[in-house]
Amino acid sequence: MATSSNALGNKPLLTEIGRGSYWITTFGCQMNKADSERMAGILEGMGYFKAKAELEADLVVYNTCTIRDNAEQKVYSYLGRQAQRKQVLPHLKLIVAGCVAQQEGATLLRRVPEIDLVMGPQHANRLETLLTQVENGQQVLATEESFILEDLTTARRDSQVCAWVNVIYGCNERCTYCVVPSVRGKEQSRTPEAIRSEIEKLAALGYKEITLLGQNIDAYGRDLPGITKEGRRQNTLTDLLHYIHNIEGIDRIRFATSHPRYFTNRLITACAELPKICEHFHIPFQSGDNQILKAMARGYTIEKYKTIIEHIRDLIPNAAISSDVIVGFPGEDDQQFQNTLSIIEEIGFDLVNTAAYSPRPNTPAATWKNQIPDSIKIERLRELNSLVEKTAKKRNSRYKNHLEEVLAEGINPKDKQQLMGRTRTNRLTFFPREGPQGQLYKNGELVKLKINEVRSFSLSGIPVN
Ligand code: SAH
Ligand code: SF4
Ligand code: F3S
Repeated sequence: MATSSNALGNKPLLTEIGRGSYWITTFGCQMNKADSERMAGILEGMGYFKAKAELEADLVVYNTCTIRDNAEQKVYSYLGRQAQRKQVLPHLKLIVAGCVAQQEGATLLRRVPEIDLVMGPQHANRLETLLTQVENGQQVLATEESFILEDLTTARRDSQVCAWVNVIYGCNERCTYCVVPSVRGKEQSRTPEAIRSEIEKLAALGYKEITLLGQNIDAYGRDLPGITKEGRRQNTLTDLLHYIHNIEGIDRIRFATSHPRYFTNRLITACAELPKICEHFHIPFQSGDNQILKAMARGYTIEKYKTIIEHIRDLIPNAAISSDVIVGFPGEDDQQFQNTLSIIEEIGFDLVNTAAYSPRPNTPAATWKNQIPDSIKIERLRELNSLVEKTAKKRNSRYKNHLEEVLAEGINPKDKQQLMGRTRTNRLTFFPREGPQGQLYKNGELVKLKINEVRSFSLSGIPVN
């Protein structure tokens, strides 16, 4: 690091090494958010401090997402604003990170020459090196495929209670609609030891909940060595859950995103047996129609998906199930769309993220002739969303008058007298700051609540002894 210690030999003060203020806007998924937290940690380590507002910052990072076209276009409008600022503030540093950076590369520099640094998601941990090159007057492009270095920096995490922990980067699947493999690269699993050591550090800092992250978390360990005596692959996600489960101080463990193609009964059994693993599974099914699933190259049938959900509910009856769905995939006819609606009704999801299919660069489905007109996609999305809301509300009603354990995560921004947190099943829940004995709950505390209000996407409760 380009800093020296002060006269007392202590760590240098921020004012001595201050390089100006930074701002990071995050556009993408949990992995994108986790990358932002690591980049914020690196910037603070370099002496930057968080700006009060985006338009006041000396250094701006847009950590971008390209999963759908509208996510990508948003970045260009943000960049236009900063490019104008830079014309009057030449010292402003403009960085585009994440998946649009990887996809567009040099094109971004040509379109917006004010940008100083374009860096793909595999380079997030190298921000300091790249920024030093920028400070030396270069315009830098970092999008080559790279082996992701173990992260030595402490992430500047947004929460002091819940933390994300990357376990596998990249994705080796080839879903025909999806841009992720081309922008996030090949699967790279971290070693169980590196993961455990990061979680131990988090526990020592007072974190209570961790979420293990991967685009296809069931692929964890495929690229690591090891076969058991019985000939089974070692270092699976299930092995990892057993390996990290006893870390003292961590109360809750979650993981995402699960892929129906690789989701095993062994994993479900581990989730049922290990008490810290929360009863929530995010398992995208994408379409309720087998022909569409085949065209998407998802590698499972809807029958297999239903069997997984049945098995989860047999072993963990209270489990919440959430999912992702795409409507208007090329060739989807009305009956096939109806099949998706039927699955939503049949399974009764707690939450479904919905999207209209968006053709993406370098993906097979984007080149097919049988595209669905936008008007139909919009109509289907509207119909789907209204069903999702209805089923979520119905499903939520099971919480009414139930006792739930909620981990206090912070103050409700809309009502300062309330705290908010989530149930083990990942339902956002609001409750009074003050307990039955007049005690004030603190962030990181597990609070027993009786649920008294149920809405489509959140709950409210009253603390009980
Ligand atoms: N790895 C996860 C998904 C990551 S992308 C999985 O395999 O399920 C998050 C979600 O974005 C996907 O589940 C999908 O529903 C949606 N998505 C991805 N590509 C899309 C596209 N081209 N158009 C519309 N939605 C898309
Ligand atoms: Fe995309 Fe499929 Fe990989 Fe998920 S599993 S990130 S949808 S290619
Ligand atoms: Fe978006 Fe990249 Fe995540 S495209 S969804 S930020 S992996």
